[in-house]
Amino acid sequence: MNVTAVVLAAGSGQRVGSDIPKQFLPLAGRPMITLSLAAFEACKQLQAVVVALPPGGGAAEPPLEEFAKVGARVAGGSSRQGSLAQALAHLPESTEAVLVHDAARPLLGQRIIEDLLAALDDTCDGVIPAIPIEDTIKKVSEDRLVEQELDRRGVWRVQTPQLFRRAALEDSLAKAIQSGMESTDCSQMLTGAGYRVRVVEGDPLNFKVTRAVDLWLAEQVLAARPEGGG
Ligand code: CTP
Ligand code: MG
Repeated sequence: MNVTAVVLAAGSGQRVGSDIPKQFLPLAGRPMITLSLAAFEACKQLQAVVVALPPGGGAAEPPLEEFAKVGARVAGGSSRQGSLAQALAHLPESTEAVLVHDAARPLLGQRIIEDLLAALDDTCDGVIPAIPIEDTIKKVSEDRLVEQELDRRGVWRVQTPQLFRRAALEDSLAKAIQSGMESTDCSQMLTGAGYRVRVVEGDPLNFKVTRAVDLWLAEQVLAARPEGGG
């Protein structure tokens, strides 16, 4: 199967609150985005990588020439879904499946990529990594009173990378755009369009860098991890 990775790196990282987008901040001495690109470069089953970058570029953007698989660098959109659409418009023609990943998850390991690729069989159109919720889940009102106790059984939290058959992903995106749906999770588009999405086990260390504390956490994980580990 011919697989292209799409790395979404066109966000501005408001919640981290740094001057430059979080995906370009240094982690273990290297720009965050390069950790994801290195993981895809190392995966033999991936043929190419398309990267969505902030429109207008900027001084913060690291050079990506060392990554031979990065074929296209495209200007992202104003939303994650918009950036995805731009990237999908630049897939190599031979692409049969797409691995969509957030550059804000720098700690992905080869195990997840391999599990996703192995699980995409004729029982499903997409595969995502996810982890069962372990904390108690409550619905809380705007003035912070507990409104409702939710049942966490069967509730999973979802990560990237996510693997999809190209045709299913393109069709789902077209339908989402047509119906004015905007989602921060690609698999939601697929399930919304009636496609089957399977879950494989995620990795607690593959968390999304969302706030400043996550940057610190990622640094600690990388410092403790053997070279090339994860
Ligand atoms: N993303 C993107 N294009 C956008 C918005 C987000 O490519 N217009 C990417 C981000 O770069 C990130 C991923 O989608 O890798 C997940 O988004 P998120 O964690 O929300 O990142 P930001 O939108 O940059 O952060 P924030 O919401 O705090 O501004
Ligand atoms: Mg965002």
